[in-house]
Amino acid sequence: TEWDRALRYKKFDDWSEQEKFALVDQVRHSPWRMDVHIQPKSGLLNDPNGFSYYNDQWHLFYQNYPMGPVHGLKAWYHLTSSDLTHWEEHGLAMIPDTPYDSHGCYSGSALPVNDKLFIMYTGNVRDKGWQRYPYQIGAWMDKNNKIEKIKSPMIAHQPNHYTDHFRDPQIIRHNDHYYALIGAQNDRLDGEIVVYKSDDLSQWRFLGTLPLTDQSLGYMIECPNLLFIDEKPVLIFCPQGLDEQILNYKNIYPNVFLVGDQVNLDRPTFTSKHPLHNLDEGFDCYATQAFNAPDGRALAVSWVGLPEIGYPTDQYGWAHCLSFVKELSIKDGRLYQNPVRETAALRTEHNQSHGTLSRQSQVIAKDCMPAYELDIDLSGTGGCRLALANNGTQSLDLTIDFENGILTLDRGHSGVLFAEEYGTTRTTTIPKRQPVHLQIFIDHSIAEIFVNHGFKVLTARFFPDDNQTQISLETDSHLDYNYDYWRLTR
Ligand code: FRU
Repeated sequence: TEWDRALRYKKFDDWSEQEKFALVDQVRHSPWRMDVHIQPKSGLLNDPNGFSYYNDQWHLFYQNYPMGPVHGLKAWYHLTSSDLTHWEEHGLAMIPDTPYDSHGCYSGSALPVNDKLFIMYTGNVRDKGWQRYPYQIGAWMDKNNKIEKIKSPMIAHQPNHYTDHFRDPQIIRHNDHYYALIGAQNDRLDGEIVVYKSDDLSQWRFLGTLPLTDQSLGYMIECPNLLFIDEKPVLIFCPQGLDEQILNYKNIYPNVFLVGDQVNLDRPTFTSKHPLHNLDEGFDCYATQAFNAPDGRALAVSWVGLPEIGYPTDQYGWAHCLSFVKELSIKDGRLYQNPVRETAALRTEHNQSHGTLSRQSQVIAKDCMPAYELDIDLSGTGGCRLALANNGTQSLDLTIDFENGILTLDRGHSGVLFAEEYGTTRTTTIPKRQPVHLQIFIDHSIAEIFVNHGFKVLTARFFPDDNQTQISLETDSHLDYNYDYWRLTR
């Protein structure tokens, strides 16, 4: 298919039933479909949206272009869950069908207000000359999951020193007022997070930009989130074009976090003693949405994918997935991320093993299911390699240099390769000469790797052959291992 502009923006109604059936059928023939992750029925999934707790259920939406693995006309796809782990699909909940969102219901967030769920999102509009107009739009969802868009936009125009890159409102309630944080680009082409305030969810007042650091954070900030963990303000966002002197990253765009000390939204200020960090040290993680849930937890979910990069599933008519839901916490000024405890509900068929290796390589598990969890303690000297999805020649490799405290994820010989221009390895630091704990989730074509109980996370898509079913360990020195293994099923 030649995905030209006309095709990408062809109205959903103008696609025939036959064409839509062909799309789903194409996906049915795809390898690499996952067992326990949220993935699109057809087409492209990107940002998580509207993550919230309302009507005694978790609600989660995602950006979806259902007609192909490209960024076309975006809609919101809706899911609900009682445990953040098993999700029920409700199909497309908002489609671009008004003059204010004609070219896409772009990203946004949600907040329960009285007995409804209030949604705020960006309506993407293009005119004939393809000039973009971003509108910040409100909508109400009721207890029957029926969504009604508010007729006129809440913020009809960005302030005049901003470009048309103005989107992804995060709505929060703070000190009994409503605020919206919006990702923006100013007319000097710097990325900013801007703050709006409202008391009635209808009149919105521009308060200014949230100054984050002295340095420029690139040319655009997408998907800003503010949340509070142990009373500390934490910002999670996606700076595009960030100078690698400020933060070392290898992905096309990073998803970052900044732990702050104080935030004042009324006279926008944000103070922090901490540097910017990558939220994820792996290959595919973007547009993370995080919020303070009513049960007291800080929860996050990420798009496992990146803008502007082709993936091997494209040829089967679909692309990308969401991460597991992660619980955020702070320890020693650092953000920790762990899979929510409910994830354990996916475990079946438990195995355990431990052993010692000395200058050798050994298969430690055979016939691993395509979806499993491996919790493994490794302690040793020298270097070791944990080869996941191994068939003797292909594998997804985690190597640990215990002496220097370096952990590397290598997907360079793990099946069908992609995005090679951004490198096939990711490296991160861990404490030197210390045992390492890894909690690893493999689900056909995704790996989510939590290092040292959430200190670092590495997320990666990889596209193995069917026979990549072993796990092996190799050491050039001495290694003790001890693991729990569970098959994961829904
Ligand atoms: C981030 C993003 C958002 C936008 C959405 C459109 O991936 O570009 O800024 O709202 O995707 O799908």
